[in-house]
Amino acid sequence: MEPTTFVLFGATGDLAKRKIYPALYNLYIDRKLPQSFSLVGLGRRELSDESFQANVEQSIRTFSRREANNSALIKDFLSAFRYSVLDIGRKEDYRKLLQLIEQREEELRIPPNRLFYLSVGPEFFETIAAGIEESGLGSANGWRRLVIEKPFGHDLQSARDLNQKLSKAFAEHEIYRIDHYLGKPLVQKLEILQQNPVLNALWTNRYIANVQITANETVGVEERAGYYDHVGAVRDMFQNHMLQLLMMLTSHLPNNSDSEMVRFKKKKVMEALEPLQKEEVSASIIRGQYKAGTVQGKPVIGYTSEPGIASTSMNDTFIAAKLQIDDFFWRGVPFYIRTGKRMKEKSTRIVIEFKELLKMSSQANAEGKSPNLLVFEISPNEGITLQLNTRDPLHKGEFKPIQMDFHESRDDVPEAYENLIYDALHGDPTFFAHWDEVELSWKWVQPILEAFEENLVPLHRYEAGTYGPAESDALLAKDGYHWWFDD
Ligand code: BG6
Repeated sequence: MEPTTFVLFGATGDLAKRKIYPALYNLYIDRKLPQSFSLVGLGRRELSDESFQANVEQSIRTFSRREANNSALIKDFLSAFRYSVLDIGRKEDYRKLLQLIEQREEELRIPPNRLFYLSVGPEFFETIAAGIEESGLGSANGWRRLVIEKPFGHDLQSARDLNQKLSKAFAEHEIYRIDHYLGKPLVQKLEILQQNPVLNALWTNRYIANVQITANETVGVEERAGYYDHVGAVRDMFQNHMLQLLMMLTSHLPNNSDSEMVRFKKKKVMEALEPLQKEEVSASIIRGQYKAGTVQGKPVIGYTSEPGIASTSMNDTFIAAKLQIDDFFWRGVPFYIRTGKRMKEKSTRIVIEFKELLKMSSQANAEGKSPNLLVFEISPNEGITLQLNTRDPLHKGEFKPIQMDFHESRDDVPEAYENLIYDALHGDPTFFAHWDEVELSWKWVQPILEAFEENLVPLHRYEAGTYGPAESDALLAKDGYHWWFDD
């Protein structure tokens, strides 16, 4: 891997502490960092290199999934870390930063390959990108990449504005938009699995009755009231993570697809997604908000009693949707997508329900028959289960489902951030969101945002610790289906 300088904006922030440092450390253990690697952390606070390294050490000891207490390894890893204070609006600070980076490049004898990681609020993206451009930090004789976190915009227009501003400083191929769901190992496996001829042959409306994509969480708004109350589940999870899962699942990639092909096919899915009209949103979108209840044995308060949330808030903490992809493969197959906070259990999964072709045979009335299912468990456990109907040898005429199971042991599974940072260091954009996908996602979601804003969609309060409002069940029941695995 090419020598790299990792320039981290927001180096004293929460994301860096919880995700980025542990991910880098785990990559280092696996020898997946470049041999010559330099990291410069940036923040508003004055910090010596030693104090910065001590903070990073603390984060590794608390959050690393492996070797969290291996002092010798940690020490060696941290020797690459330096710190510089930066006020994002001060030109002089960027000049100082450039000097420090050049000095480190010289010491390590490495070319100016620079990865700028913006682990800061979106309101700072534009100023930082301009600061990088104007100071000459990004115009060296190596490569440069800009890695940015979500949210990418608040609606279609603001996303377009942001993209336009970023593209003054960076070309599309240099921008790596993180959607951490794309870093989850099983989501990455979907790319390969759907190219597998066995599954590929079944991946059509001929065999598939419906698809269910769920991302349920047990946590509530946590300490993020200021952010969450302005975005809701629709922007926080649906526009990005959920639609990315949909694209990854349905894009019908040809064999040996490269990143260009993956992006092209994902874009095609978004273009084929049947658009919603604002007035029709309430027919296919369920909006919910949690009330007080009990989650995993603990009583919890309702959303509007949470600190920082107005008692009149109409924000959505749950959304369920029915989508249709109008193309050759998927026409007529409903896709049900839901995500919510304060649900009964933490679970992200995709369920593919196959058509009951046996219905047409003489065994139609056999007892105990349930459809064949293919289940992708994405988190917290990772696994794939195929449930097939077969005959019960003990009870003549009855069906008995058998399950074929694959489950990954949790310790072996890399964190999403490990996969994504590794890819960004390598210059592989496959599992990052391309602007076309982001724009098309916002475009599709825009009528929902407007319908919510204008209160055209009822807000259903659901008890915390359940699977959301009853209307979410009714959405599927109308079509003769139900959410799988809700007990
Ligand atoms: C984040 C959202 O993007 O994803 C959070 O902002 C949410 O609100 C989180 O809790 C869920 O991620 P995961 O990996 O725990 O499913």
